[in-house]
Amino acid sequence: MKLRETWGTRTGFLLAAVASAVGLGNIWRFPYIAGEYGGGAFLLVYLVCIFIIGLPTMIAEFSIGKKGQSDAVESFSKTAPAKPWIIGGWLGVITSFLIVSFYAVIVGWVLYYIFSYLTGSAQQVETGGMGEFFETFIGNGFIPVVWQLIVMAIIVGILYFGVKKGIELSNKIFMPALALVLVILAIYGMTLDGAAEGLAFLFVPDWSALANPSLYLAAVGQSFFSLSLGMGIMVTYGGYLSKQTGSRLPSTATRVVVLDTLFAILVGIIIFTTVFTIGGESDQGPGMVFVVMPEVFNQMAVGGSVIAVLFLFLVFIGGLSSAISLAEVSVSFAMRQVNLSRGKAVLIIGALITALGIPSALSQGGPLSDFLIFDLSFLDLVDTITDSYFLPIGGLIVVLFVGWGWKTKDALEEADFKNPAIAKFWLFLIRFVAPIMILIILLANIFGIEA
Ligand code: TRP
Repeated sequence: MKLRETWGTRTGFLLAAVASAVGLGNIWRFPYIAGEYGGGAFLLVYLVCIFIIGLPTMIAEFSIGKKGQSDAVESFSKTAPAKPWIIGGWLGVITSFLIVSFYAVIVGWVLYYIFSYLTGSAQQVETGGMGEFFETFIGNGFIPVVWQLIVMAIIVGILYFGVKKGIELSNKIFMPALALVLVILAIYGMTLDGAAEGLAFLFVPDWSALANPSLYLAAVGQSFFSLSLGMGIMVTYGGYLSKQTGSRLPSTATRVVVLDTLFAILVGIIIFTTVFTIGGESDQGPGMVFVVMPEVFNQMAVGGSVIAVLFLFLVFIGGLSSAISLAEVSVSFAMRQVNLSRGKAVLIIGALITALGIPSALSQGGPLSDFLIFDLSFLDLVDTITDSYFLPIGGLIVVLFVGWGWKTKDALEEADFKNPAIAKFWLFLIRFVAPIMILIILLANIFGIEA
């Protein structure tokens, strides 16, 4: 029998969890969602969500994995055989499949921008012209699909040949490098003319925005998406923790959450200081980063192109590694449940993900822009279904399972809190606060309580 691989060190585990969490969710999604929901008010609700729902849920997911020592579906069923909790595992497979379909589209946009900076076309755009540059690209027939296909081919290739290890290793270098570039850009952003206005937008809440119930759903959804929660991924990660290295889940989870949030806030600073400098709108939708970030690069007196390529490359690697982990969920599911060889599973799942992603790629200005479902473009639709509904439901199952389905003693033993008072508080959060809040927010939105 082969021994299960485990994380060698606590730092290895921490790095892997941070690498999973930091991705397009921080760089692409956070700023445009924050912009859409009024900036400071959204950030405030987001922070509350992160600490009273996200963090306790992450500790719960790690605990299930540590107990089950396996992937999400098996860890659930091992920990509580023949109980309905296993639905949480299944839901994770569906959700990750849906998410990676549009995630790969966005990684394709990043790749196109790298290409544009390398060939020099992006640098030549005049100040304020990046919006048009982006729209020309995104509305250009099937061109965005071509970039999506390239990304999917890379993902399939990596999963097929199993060189995933290399990518994980590189997170040790690329993650800190990305942080460094972001810090530099944020400092630069703060020297721009619109800095004060941008910072006020991001950090000073406009209280009237809080009256909108979809803000809460968006905040919960974004916190789950950004922390890779609600789909059993962190259960799987916890499954690699050996009993020896894997103690004290709360402090690891806290670090992951804090680091992930810092990445998002840094990006927010860069984006909004720039938006108010170039006189753009703060609610530009999914293309926002691709319009605003290049303006920063192009305005820099020296080295803008170098920073641009470096930044885009790091985002590309981060996005790619997230897409690979997301796709791997479906691949290993197909291998286990349908009994396919790895090669076959990768090809079939890869084709399905690609097919589902194509309408998303065509929906942001291309031929399918006017094809709206519930008033949403196809990309927004898949994104909303997963982030606003499936992820919170997945998270709900996890907290109910650990809070109520599990014996208190077992839950506390796996989580391994140092301080008994905090342990009690955690139990309170996952038993009452998190499930009740998630439920209320879901119901308010399902039954369409309009702002
Ligand atoms: N958290 C990732 C991001 O911010 C997205 C993500 C969600 C993810 N679930 C995941 C990445 C699972 C890897 C594995 O971009």
